[in-house]
Amino acid sequence: MHINGSTTIVGVFGAPITHTASPAMHNAAFGALDMNWVYLAFHVEAANLRTALRGASHMGLVGINLTIPHKILALDGIDEIEPEARKLGAVNTVSMEKGKLRGYNTDGYGFIKAVKEDFNLSIKGKRVLVLGAGGAGHGIAVKCALDGAAKVIVANRTLARIEPIAREISGTKTEFLALKLAAEDIRKVIHEVDLVVNATSVGLEEQDSLGLGADLFSPRLHVYDTIYRPAETELLRVAESAGAKVANGLSMLLHQGAKSFEIWTKRKAPLAVMRRALRAAIYGEKP
Ligand code: ATR
Repeated sequence: MHINGSTTIVGVFGAPITHTASPAMHNAAFGALDMNWVYLAFHVEAANLRTALRGASHMGLVGINLTIPHKILALDGIDEIEPEARKLGAVNTVSMEKGKLRGYNTDGYGFIKAVKEDFNLSIKGKRVLVLGAGGAGHGIAVKCALDGAAKVIVANRTLARIEPIAREISGTKTEFLALKLAAEDIRKVIHEVDLVVNATSVGLEEQDSLGLGADLFSPRLHVYDTIYRPAETELLRVAESAGAKVANGLSMLLHQGAKSFEIWTKRKAPLAVMRRALRAAIYGEKP
């Protein structure tokens, strides 16, 4: 990497931000395509998001990813928001063009590509159970409906948080059901779903448990966990022991990043290079 006066800068804003693997993924891509671009991580507090975005734009940065806690906040600090990002309730990618901030959501796209790649599963006509109704759960549940899922069930510890998702999905043809996130409630519906997605933060810590036993799962189920660190959550372990097909969130991280890359650079993302860089950064594998 040779940084000089004409290096194009992109990056990610978050708080905390030190654990992000996105710089490794994007800088590997720039290197592979011999582009004079660099991707940096910036610690930006929620209260400073608007000024930081404007400042970045004035400084000539051309793109920013947003992560915790900015994805939802960014909805009202941006000049133009892609309609899908509005529906998914979050902006994770901003492009700066001619002083204008444009907001996109590439997480939904990343999720759809991930289940296609990991399970060869297309969401159209499928029945999906989403665990969690925070930012991630909202985006995935609504994206499934937009992509033609036959049914979306959202289970969350706090039922009231499901309401905005229900409202958004009510405008689509997809059937919708809200549930309490508890084994006995899940048991009543799991036989009718094709795909289970964990979009809660439960699993990030070693000792975390959603309390869903192996008896709930079967070999015809696909179980996707948006968590990628640790590589195998308790949910994936339990589901796999029951014969279900399982995958973790690395593929979603990869594909949302690839889409951001393509929005900013207008070039095709080098997926294999980006995946290797992610695996090296997150799991310590040799790139
Ligand atoms: P994100 O943007 O990553 O989705 P979030 O908006 O904080 O983060 O949402 C976290 C999700 O994990 C929510 O669905 C949350 O459930 P509540 O809405 O009831 O808070 C879920 N979650 C976090 N800790 C949980 C726990 N111990 N048990 C069950 N669900 C939990």
